[in-house]
Amino acid sequence: MKILVLNGPNLNMLGIREPAIYGSGTYDSLCGMILRRADELHVEVAFFQSNSEGDLVTRIQQAYGREDAIIINPAAYTHTSIAILDALKAVGLPAAEVHISDVNQREPFRRISYAGMACELHYIGMGFDGYLRALEDLAAKYG
Ligand code: DQA
Repeated sequence: MKILVLNGPNLNMLGIREPAIYGSGTYDSLCGMILRRADELHVEVAFFQSNSEGDLVTRIQQAYGREDAIIINPAAYTHTSIAILDALKAVGLPAAEVHISDVNQREPFRRISYAGMACELHYIGMGFDGYLRALEDLAAKYG
C-alpha cells in the first residue's frame, strides 16, 4: 500500500512556528516518525509539503493511479480552499484530515474545513500522533 502525506503552508516551519500551539518537533522529525511507523506497518509513504495551493492541488491529482490513500493537513488552506476540496473529490482516494492543534477550540475562522468534507477520517488536536493514527487506520482499512 502507498500513502501520500501532504502538508500545507507553514508546516515546514514546525519547531520554530508557535511552539506553544504546534510543539517543538520539526517537519523533518514528523516525517521520520511517520516513516518509522509506516515501515512497521509495511506501508510505503511519499511526503509532499508546499506553501502553494496550486502545487498541493497538482500533487493530489498526481496521486491518482500512484498512491492508494492520502493523509492531508492543508494547514491554513483547510479553511479557504475549495480547489483542494475539489481535487480530493476528483481523485476519489480514501483521505484522512489531520490538524496538529484543535482547530475547534481556536479562532472561529478555523472551524470550517473545506478539505475535511472530502475526508472520511479526521484527527484533530492530537499533535503529531494524529498522523500516526491516520496511517494506522488507513492501513487497517485499505492495506
Ligand atoms: C493546522 C491548523 C490551521 O488552522 C493552521 O492554519 C495551520 C495548522 C494544524 O495542524 O493545527 O497552519 O492545520
